[in-house]
Amino acid sequence: MGKISVISGNTSKGLARRIAKKLNATFIPTETTNFPDGESKITLKKIPKKGIILVIQSTSPPVDTNLLQLLSMISQARKFSSKIYAVIPYMGYARQDRSFLGGEIVTISVVAKMLETAGAKKIIVVDIHSKTALKYFKIEAENVSAIPKLVNYFKKIKLKNPLIVSPDTGGSARAKEFAKQFNTDFISLKKHRNRKTGKVKIQSSKMNIKNRDLILVDDMISSGGSIIKATQFLKKQGSGKIFVACSHAILIGDAEKNIRKAGVKEIISTNTILGRTAKVDVSDIIAKSIK
Ligand code: R5P
Repeated sequence: MGKISVISGNTSKGLARRIAKKLNATFIPTETTNFPDGESKITLKKIPKKGIILVIQSTSPPVDTNLLQLLSMISQARKFSSKIYAVIPYMGYARQDRSFLGGEIVTISVVAKMLETAGAKKIIVVDIHSKTALKYFKIEAENVSAIPKLVNYFKKIKLKNPLIVSPDTGGSARAKEFAKQFNTDFISLKKHRNRKTGKVKIQSSKMNIKNRDLILVDDMISSGGSIIKATQFLKKQGSGKIFVACSHAILIGDAEKNIRKAGVKEIISTNTILGRTAKVDVSDIIAKSIK
């Protein structure tokens, strides 16, 4: 497969190091400083080798800053090789994959063009919000799933008659896959999001989940609104303990506190975004996708 270099972006340092180790690749740290006006200045601490260069950076908040840093690193890497793979463990803007209201811009299509123009030959993402987003890429775009890793984590927890729950019908394929690997059943709630205010409501009717321990499976938690509404609804139906498994825990502001207050026992996420809940490592699934 030849020489591989791994450029570690600001948001994904630990993960990039693990991936480099698994691939026996040259690890290239970066140093990022910010000017008083917010501009980033990035320095590669080693020269990449010709061959495959992975540029690893989640575009988590601050999304636009981290995206521009990613584009800058890709553009710099392109000077050394034509085989630039952008590894974007959490892909911001993936939820903007269609116009919901008239006049809305599908910004993921702009992100796709920018990544291509900067010099990426391929992108690799983990559990992207929906596969629709990948259709905007003219370069190869691969989605890897963290579900097996999350399932392994939950297999170590003692649960009573577990049931997997998707907070909305859009995520039911994800919950179904989780349930299959966990060897249990699943349900999907019906969620309505007001496209103007962003507020969510659960529209499901009563269900029989009495005393069953639940795992709410979602791709991401941002404000926590979806998980909070789902938890409040499920608690009212008499559920047992509620856990959350998600790939990307952004957890804006007091989201974590509010989710716990609603009745969630534990949130488990992956290290696509660092934080207290990031207990599942996705370095080997990403490394395997390169081999
Ligand atoms: C929505 O369809 C997504 O899968 C997530 O459920 C949602 O984006 C999470 O956002 P929030 O935590 O703000 O409700």
